[in-house]
Amino acid sequence: MPDPSPLTARRAGPLQGRLRVPGDKSISHRALILGALTVGETAITGLLEGEDVHRTADAMRALGAEVERTAEGVWKVRGVGVGGFVSPKATLDLGNSGTGCRLILGAVAGNPVTVTVDGDASLRKRPMRRVLDPLARMGAKVVAIADEGRLPLTLAGARDPMPIDYEPPVPSAQLKSAVLLAGLAAPGETTVLEAEATRDHTEKMLRHFGATIRVKPVGAHDRGRRIVLQGQPELEAAPVVVPADPSSAAFPLVAALLVPGSELVLEAVMTNPLRTGLYNTLREMGAQIETLETRSDGGEEIADLRVRASALKGVEVPADRAPSMIDEYPILAVAAAFAEGRTVMRGLSELRVKESDRLAATAEMLRVNGVDVEIQGDDLIVNGKGRAQGGGTVATHMDHRLAMSALVMGLASEQAVQADDTAFIATSFPDFTGLMRSLGADLS
Ligand code: S3P
Repeated sequence: MPDPSPLTARRAGPLQGRLRVPGDKSISHRALILGALTVGETAITGLLEGEDVHRTADAMRALGAEVERTAEGVWKVRGVGVGGFVSPKATLDLGNSGTGCRLILGAVAGNPVTVTVDGDASLRKRPMRRVLDPLARMGAKVVAIADEGRLPLTLAGARDPMPIDYEPPVPSAQLKSAVLLAGLAAPGETTVLEAEATRDHTEKMLRHFGATIRVKPVGAHDRGRRIVLQGQPELEAAPVVVPADPSSAAFPLVAALLVPGSELVLEAVMTNPLRTGLYNTLREMGAQIETLETRSDGGEEIADLRVRASALKGVEVPADRAPSMIDEYPILAVAAAFAEGRTVMRGLSELRVKESDRLAATAEMLRVNGVDVEIQGDDLIVNGKGRAQGGGTVATHMDHRLAMSALVMGLASEQAVQADDTAFIATSFPDFTGLMRSLGADLS
């Protein structure tokens, strides 16, 4: 585990400039894992070089793929083909990464290999049964597991995997993706029926590599998806361009909204509608976020966004918006503290099983900085006063997004805010501190 590195954020002048945040974490994991399952060499550009993604790259090597970094953000993966993984010689250590862990469990479940998976103290607290249950139905066997379905665990993949029809009990792209990745090695059709659509990067990338996959909107207001994957495709290598991560862009974007006089242009941010719930919510709150130029890159819509400091007002965020902004509640809660009036964020039970219990930790972050906040059931309620006192030290619980949210809060609060440990920011946004300083932020 890295040494804790506390950091303090203070009010300074406006934030100004143009920036491009690192590549999307979700797409980066998928590019490495699907690249490892193709035949041929996949060239990836814009890969996020964060800790979590490095762990996935190491895991793909251990499973038999060749993975090589040739320049900054430029990687090559020579895959083993569907069903071609070998048993790793050592435990796969996925560090802090729930996405890497759950997607890799799915990817190995259809291969006749035995894999032991472990992670850091945060990942060891996160539930794995949710993904192991459908994988067991497909023929994989849990050989060993820690108490209450946590890591470390050993999974024996299926020699003859079976396709299933699966309805995830919670809206989770990780769960959906694990089942689809396992379904690659199964004969026939694997079906996932989502009551609420979650990020669709796995489906898009499977198609990009040549799989046959049908996706149909279903349910009230077309909010759900029926996804049918034809098993045992020959996946063919194809180049992948990773767009900038909207979940990372959220931090400088909210900082610019809150620090008076700020104006930033965020370049080439992915605007996949299944990822932009925060942006829609902030606009409802009165944020000036202007879309400058939209285009598409690597199969995803991207846009340059201009953001200006804005007066915000409290809003209601409905529960059905959560899948499109699941990682953005800590930073939305910071924005809500600086808004005038009450913001109610509904239906946040999934936040309890992220890198930390993000519902409790987000409320605590605001509370120690003098903000009026409460949790009612699964809802988070922030009574914004247009300003925040600050002066607190935020416990970040090995959670990168809490650390970045706390620092953004400090940039706009009356007194400085300290994050007790910022080491985990490296999982998703390695140069966050340097980049924020280059825009004018006071972080020390
Ligand atoms: C992710 C899915 C989400 C999200 C995570 C990335 C993915 O998790 O929180 O950061 O890449 O599929 P869940 O699927 O568990 O909601």
